[in-house]
Amino acid sequence: MAFSRLLLCLASFIACAVAAPRAVPEGWSLHRRADPDAVLPLKFTLTQSNIHNLDAYLLDVADPRSPNYGRHWTPAKVAETFKPSKETVDAVHSWLVEEAGIDTHKIRLSQKGDIVHLDLTVAEAESLLGAEYFVYRHGEDGKEHVGCHQGYSLPERVSKHIDFVWPTTHLGSTSLLRRDAGVSTVPGFGRVSGAPKIPVDDVSALAAEGCDTAATIDCLRGLYKYDHTLVSGDKNSVAVAEFSNEVYRPSDLDLFFKTYAPDQVGHIPETISIAGGDPTVSGDLGESTLDIELVMGLLGAGQNLSLYQIGEAANSSVFLDPLLGAVDGSYCELEGVSNQGLSDCGNKPTVNVVSISYHFNPDVIDPTISPIVQRECTEIGKLSLTGMTFIASSGDGGVGYSQSGFCQLANGTLQAGNPKGAFLGQLPASCPYVTAVGATSVAPNNTVDDPEIATTRFPSGGGFSNNFPRPTWQDDAVTNYLDNFGPNYAENIFNRSGRAYPDVAANGWPLVIAESGQFVKSGGTSASAPIFAAIVTAVNDARIAAGKSPVGWINPALYSSAFANAYNDVTKGTNPGCSTQGFNAAPGWDPVTGLGTPNFPELLAAFLALP
Ligand SMILES: *[C@@H]1O[C@H](CO)[C@@H](O)[C@H](O)[C@H]1NC(C)=O
Ligand SMILES: *[C@@H]1O[C@H](CO)[C@@H](O)[C@H](O)[C@H]1NC(C)=O
Ligand SMILES: *[C@@H]1O[C@H](CO)[C@@H](O)[C@H](O)[C@H]1NC(C)=O
Ligand SMILES: *[C@@H]1O[C@H](CO)[C@@H](O)[C@H](O)[C@H]1NC(C)=O
Ligand SMILES: *[C@@H]1O[C@H](CO)[C@@H](O)[C@H](O)[C@H]1NC(C)=O
Repeated sequence: MAFSRLLLCLASFIACAVAAPRAVPEGWSLHRRADPDAVLPLKFTLTQSNIHNLDAYLLDVADPRSPNYGRHWTPAKVAETFKPSKETVDAVHSWLVEEAGIDTHKIRLSQKGDIVHLDLTVAEAESLLGAEYFVYRHGEDGKEHVGCHQGYSLPERVSKHIDFVWPTTHLGSTSLLRRDAGVSTVPGFGRVSGAPKIPVDDVSALAAEGCDTAATIDCLRGLYKYDHTLVSGDKNSVAVAEFSNEVYRPSDLDLFFKTYAPDQVGHIPETISIAGGDPTVSGDLGESTLDIELVMGLLGAGQNLSLYQIGEAANSSVFLDPLLGAVDGSYCELEGVSNQGLSDCGNKPTVNVVSISYHFNPDVIDPTISPIVQRECTEIGKLSLTGMTFIASSGDGGVGYSQSGFCQLANGTLQAGNPKGAFLGQLPASCPYVTAVGATSVAPNNTVDDPEIATTRFPSGGGFSNNFPRPTWQDDAVTNYLDNFGPNYAENIFNRSGRAYPDVAANGWPLVIAESGQFVKSGGTSASAPIFAAIVTAVNDARIAAGKSPVGWINPALYSSAFANAYNDVTKGTNPGCSTQGFNAAPGWDPVTGLGTPNFPELLAAFLALP
């Protein structure tokens, strides 16, 4: 196949952008050659305008030194600014009509001008794209999908106007979705490392335990000096995002609230169902319960919590797409990655802060997913421009991907079980527009007044992205770490020039929650993200009360000198993986615990000092 594509490129004397030939993606098998007469609904996802300015636009509203700090854009301005240019639309159109001889009437530009739709037979598509189409079958659910895993080619002059063509190389990575509760043992959901949850028989006895052995809501308040009375609840918003069959039971929330947040008894989050998501179906309770109890427990009844419940229809797509498309109609329209399309399109409300305790793909350069994760991260940046804050757990696999400890072997293969190899980042944590949160614990016999350590219950995720370069706002912090405290691994073990994460940390073990009718000690960076999300929500509450905007994208502020006192620095611990000790926590920023855990009064003061 590579041969015939090469011939095509040579024969036509045009420079070709050819995706590298690849193995059939994990979880899928090659089933049969696609029927040449079958009709393929092709989508060409057009390159957006002004994407190279996204960072500058974002820094203008998020850099604490900017006079426009906090002046977020309207969704309409965002959509208009990034809409593909006429030049892009024309280039693709003239290629299809004038060179490929396709009838103009068959070509349809999406309403928002982001996607070119074109129905072609498999044979026509193969000739247009220099590709070979197959039907693939998914191992777990037997689902079939048409694609061309070996890649496709576009004339160079056109390829710069097209982000990707669908359906082609991306088949969906169902098997790689992981939630970040690395310390749970819920039957039916794979926990590969970490320790089992500890059941608590007598919750009243917990009061006598220290925060090193039972991290209650009161412990979190003590650790982060969080004692804030919310006043802007009716104008503020926060959500947790839950995927697939991760659900909660109101009875568990009440059991928890009776002891730890009496004003929340009888309250549940407001469900925002996406792609048919329904939190009342039977499912796994580990993630959703943890996230909801921590956010509602910390914030109390002064703030309502929303629940983005993303349903099963999301499985075959790229996992964040249903959420991003549901809150942004312009993204939904250009969503070229799901063959079924998205069922919820811009019809769901945005919130000021969203907490995501899942990871979706390893952050590895992979032509079948890289263009799509780039586009997802860009979309997170665009939503941040409107004032949203995205917070994600950094993963429970240390320097490997997920609890299964995927690392990259020398021949490029990803293998689970922490083999020797290159470290793998996690998405979305490594997207620079996401605030990634690592996990800490109170050291044995220490109290809330002592500095926490990187949790030892599981390796907290952290490292360096292969897809996203290091942003300027973290240059000083990361260079300081690499120059003074970094390990001496070979050049190819981790990407020193990549976006480094996590940004911050919060307690991740042993959190006391109520699940399945009893109290348990649970955790993971899964817990750290919603705890930090609650803290940011309280900051927004105070800013709104002061007549200011919500904080939106916080990373440039977090790393700035005005925030130097906003953290409890964590300097002890490591995040092992890939047959190494991983990285070590150190003074200042480090790839285990980021800048440290929040010191709420200082963090609040720093954000209130901004316009
Ligand atoms: C929470 O939602 C309920 C029901 O919509 C509403 O009555 C209440 O005022 C809300 N609370 C806050 C703090 O906004
Ligand atoms: C979606 O994923 C869940 C959990 O892995 C699985 O139970 C369900 O069958 C999948 N649904 C579809 C439509 O593939
Ligand atoms: C890569 O190396 C591993 C371990 O040596 C081997 O099991 C695997 O089959 C190799 N994969 C490829 C594509 O060569
Ligand atoms: C913590 O205190 C207990 C009881 O006093 C003691 O047995 C244990 O060795 C201490 N652990 C550490 C790490 O100091
Ligand atoms: C390392 O990161 C840079 C910046 O994102 C990227 O250009 C480069 O391809 C990465 N290198 C590897 C080997 O992944």
